[in-house]
Amino acid sequence: MVLNIEEFAKFCKRKGFVFPTAEIYGGLAGFYDYGPLGVEVKNSVKQQWWKFFVNDRLDVVGIDGCIITNPKVWHASGHVESFTDIMLLCNKCKNAVRADHFLSEKYGVKPESLNLERVKQIIKEKNIKCSCGGEFQVQEFNLMFKTFIGPFQDEGSKSFLRPETAQLIFANFKNIVETSRLKPPFGIAQIGKAFRNEISPRNFLFRMREFEMMEIEYFATNLECPFFKEVSDLELQMLPARLQEKQGEPVRTSLKQAVSNGWLSEWLAYWIGVSVKWFTRFGVDINNLRARQHLSEEKAHYATDTWDIEYKFPFGWKEVVGIADRGVFDLSRHEKFSSKKLRVFDQAKGSLIPRVVAEPSFGLDRAFLVFMFEALSFDKDRNNFVLKIHPVLAPFKVAVFPLLSNKEELVEKALTVYNGLKHEFPTFFDASGSIGRRYARQDEIGTPFCVTIDFQTLQDDTVTIRDRDTTKQERLAIQELASYIHKKLRL
Ligand code: ATP
Ligand code: GLY
Repeated sequence: MVLNIEEFAKFCKRKGFVFPTAEIYGGLAGFYDYGPLGVEVKNSVKQQWWKFFVNDRLDVVGIDGCIITNPKVWHASGHVESFTDIMLLCNKCKNAVRADHFLSEKYGVKPESLNLERVKQIIKEKNIKCSCGGEFQVQEFNLMFKTFIGPFQDEGSKSFLRPETAQLIFANFKNIVETSRLKPPFGIAQIGKAFRNEISPRNFLFRMREFEMMEIEYFATNLECPFFKEVSDLELQMLPARLQEKQGEPVRTSLKQAVSNGWLSEWLAYWIGVSVKWFTRFGVDINNLRARQHLSEEKAHYATDTWDIEYKFPFGWKEVVGIADRGVFDLSRHEKFSSKKLRVFDQAKGSLIPRVVAEPSFGLDRAFLVFMFEALSFDKDRNNFVLKIHPVLAPFKVAVFPLLSNKEELVEKALTVYNGLKHEFPTFFDASGSIGRRYARQDEIGTPFCVTIDFQTLQDDTVTIRDRDTTKQERLAIQELASYIHKKLRL
């Protein structure tokens, strides 16, 4: 049984993964809070991303920039002018909808091919009206949240909540490059909150107004990627723009082949490859991922080429990572607006603005959804959900139970085992309800191992350890438990 997004949201609430924000006041559209289990998964996803893309690489460093920064950044970046979606606003009931979503769902129009003029034309040609009978006004809507800094609420103190983390990387470029003594090719990474005043937030965590991004700006002065070989044989489903224009289906191909077909640069192919590898490392089936190129109308104002990594959600193939070639757009705009040189030195070419050959931009909340959807299924034999999430991402790695909760000596021994494990990994202790119920509760929240203390434990210091995915049990000495679990957590 595959849950749809509404059922999945209910599951997340029931088990304490994610709640509608401030639900006692009716929540707020596009805002969600992570609960006790969700925050553990989300933190693990962040840690594993940072480890894989920053700590395990010599060529990538990280930063943590501000959510609110000097508004000049957003003028230079083009966001004030161009970070817009097209909105249909009813002049009667004031209902607002995002034009591309509305026209694709109700009228089968390809959402990627829409610009302001085309939307106006379609609305007119098809005489499209709001469900209340009102006329739609077509307008561009800037997605940035505005705020004021300091005591005066005037134009001069106006700023924005960042809609992407990337600009803080560009705005700090000089300081980062100088202090880290970076030489191209290199990347600068950041994880943090971003805010977009989405016209119609929906699909639970998929489209929110406050969310988190995990981004890298990767700078190079050469078009060849020296690491391409590491991923060139990787095969995945790819959908280049030229196939989409012919209504073609995705083709399964190696990244090497895709580059030699002229579909994309080596750098974009490399970053698609490593990003896909990061998902599959934590159990995501590669057949549920595909790489789709943006059509020219779809590209952001700064992008020369963009590929999305999409995941097969119950509501369709949708973007989880956007990987853009931003060229020299950002650094040259910041050079112009700040009058500061934002350059690197290249042995062969001298001082120049390096190109952002790839910007892998991951939505943390969308990655959370991917790992959770991939892991969750209903087990008919057990008659409960089982969350087969990768052990490294599981909220608890192990749960410890006394077989019977009313036997003091079992409870005491179980607490000793629990106290020994809790410093090693997030460990759960549960002495309430039948043992079957306790196993089921841990299955549902993804705990990969359950350790039970029984009467034999009191004799020989051995316990049973149950595997979440197979339900098989082994008998182990208490002193071997930590190393057994550590081994299973090794990637
Ligand atoms: P979409 O086409 O779905 O609106 P986008 O093209 O605007 O997405 P990007 O600007 O490429 O998205 O943002 C980079 C990443 O940030 C996306 O791949 C996604 O994972 C995440 N993201 C963007 N907008 C949202 C949102 N409103 N809620 C949650 N995550 C988001
Ligand atoms: N930084 C990439 C994006 O916001 O799309």
